[in-house]
Amino acid sequence: MTSPAIDHDRLLDRLQRLGSVGRTKSGALTRLALTDADREGRGLLVGWMREAGLEVRIDRIGNIFGVWAPACDTADPVGIGPDGADPVMIGSHIDSVIDAGIYDGCYGVLAGLAVVEALRQAGAAPARPIAVAAFTNEEGVRFQPDMMGSLVHAGGLDIDAALAAVGTDGRVLGEELARIGYAGDLPPGAIRPHCYLELHIEQGPILEAAGLAIGAVDSLQGISWQRVTIEGAANHAGTTPIAARRDAGLAAARVIAHLRDRVAGANAGTLATVGSLRFEPDAINVIPSRAVFTVDLRDPEEERLQAAEDGLARFLEGLAESEGVTVATERLARFRPVRFDPALVELVAEAAERRGLGHRRMTSGAGHDAQMIARIAPAAMIFVPSRGGISHNPAEFTEPADLAAGADVLLDIVAKLAGT
Ligand code: HGY
Ligand code: MN
Ligand code: MN
Repeated sequence: MTSPAIDHDRLLDRLQRLGSVGRTKSGALTRLALTDADREGRGLLVGWMREAGLEVRIDRIGNIFGVWAPACDTADPVGIGPDGADPVMIGSHIDSVIDAGIYDGCYGVLAGLAVVEALRQAGAAPARPIAVAAFTNEEGVRFQPDMMGSLVHAGGLDIDAALAAVGTDGRVLGEELARIGYAGDLPPGAIRPHCYLELHIEQGPILEAAGLAIGAVDSLQGISWQRVTIEGAANHAGTTPIAARRDAGLAAARVIAHLRDRVAGANAGTLATVGSLRFEPDAINVIPSRAVFTVDLRDPEEERLQAAEDGLARFLEGLAESEGVTVATERLARFRPVRFDPALVELVAEAAERRGLGHRRMTSGAGHDAQMIARIAPAAMIFVPSRGGISHNPAEFTEPADLAAGADVLLDIVAKLAGT
C-alpha cells in the first residue's frame, strides 16, 4: 500500500460543479430538499460514487450511502457481517438553504468521497467498510424538522411521519421523494455506523479570528424551532383609529423586538432569529389580519433554552391580551444540546497536531447530521474556517488550503478507524 493522498484539485473542482447545480436565473444557488435541483445534485453525486467503485444504496427517506466494503464477504455490503463490521461512516448533506454558498454540507460529502478514493488509490485494504453518506433534508427550509434524514436514520423520527411531512409549498415529502426518484428501499437505519465523522465549514467566526485551521467539535448547541400564527382583524389603514386596531403586523413586530431585547440580550448564550415572516392580506392599505412567522432559538445550555421558550410563551400570552389578537404556536423542531464522543474528538485534535495544524475544541452553533447520528454511534465533527464567519449566504467561502487541510485530517482519522 502506498501512502494515501487526497486529490485536492478534484475535490475543489467537484465543489464548484455541485455548486453550479440549482442556480436561479439571477445566479443564486438554491437547492432545496427534494426539488428538481436536488435531484440533479444527487445524480451528480451518485455518478461520482459509482465511478469511485462504491456500492450506492438509497434508503426510504432518500438518504444516499456510497459503501466501500473490500473486506466484506457478502455481495451486498449493506448486509455487513454480524461480526461487527459496521462501517466507518463519513458524510453530511447536499441540500442547501435559499441563496446559499457552495460549501455547507457538500464539502463534507465530497471530502468523504475523496477519502475513499485516496485509500482505494493507495491499495488500502480496510478491515472495516467505509460508508459515505448524504443525508436528506438537513437544512429543513422546505420540510421541517431540519436534519430530517439523519434523524430518521437514528430512529428519532418515524419514517411514515417523515414521508407525510407537508412542505412550506404544500407538497408532501413522500410524494416529492418519489417524484425525484429517490424513494429507496433500504429500511431506515439499516447501515449502522461503527462511528461517524462529519467534516464541515464552521459557518462562524471563531477559527478565522483565532488563526486556526481545524476545529475539533466536541458539542453542538440546542435548537428550538416553532411557527407562530397571530390572528388580528383586517381593517382600513386610513379610517381605523389606532385604539380600535387588532393589528397582527404590529403584534409580530413586538415579538421580534422581544426576542432581541429580552432573550438574546439577556445572556450571550441564547440566540434568537425570526427568519421567515408573512402578513395577510399583504396589502399596503390594509391592517394585517394575520402574521405567520418562524422563531429559531439556540443555546448550548438546555436550561437557558427552556427558559427562552418559556419566556416567549409568556410574552405571547400577554400580547394576545394587550393587542386583542389570538396567538397559536406550532413546534417544528426541538433538539437538546449534544456532546460528541471524547475519544473521536481527541483523534481529531491529534490528527491536526500531527499535520502541524492549529486547532481547538469548540461547540457547533449550527445544527448538523452528526448530532443525530450521535444518538446511535460515537460521532464527532471537524471544522475548517469560514471567511468572515459567513454562511447561508452566497459570500460563504473557505480558502482552498483550509479545505485541503480538513480533508487530509479526515483521511488520516478514517484510515486509522477503518484499520487500513
Ligand atoms: O439550522 C441549522 O443550523 C442547519 O443549517 N440546518
Ligand atoms: Mn450544513
Ligand atoms: Mn446549513
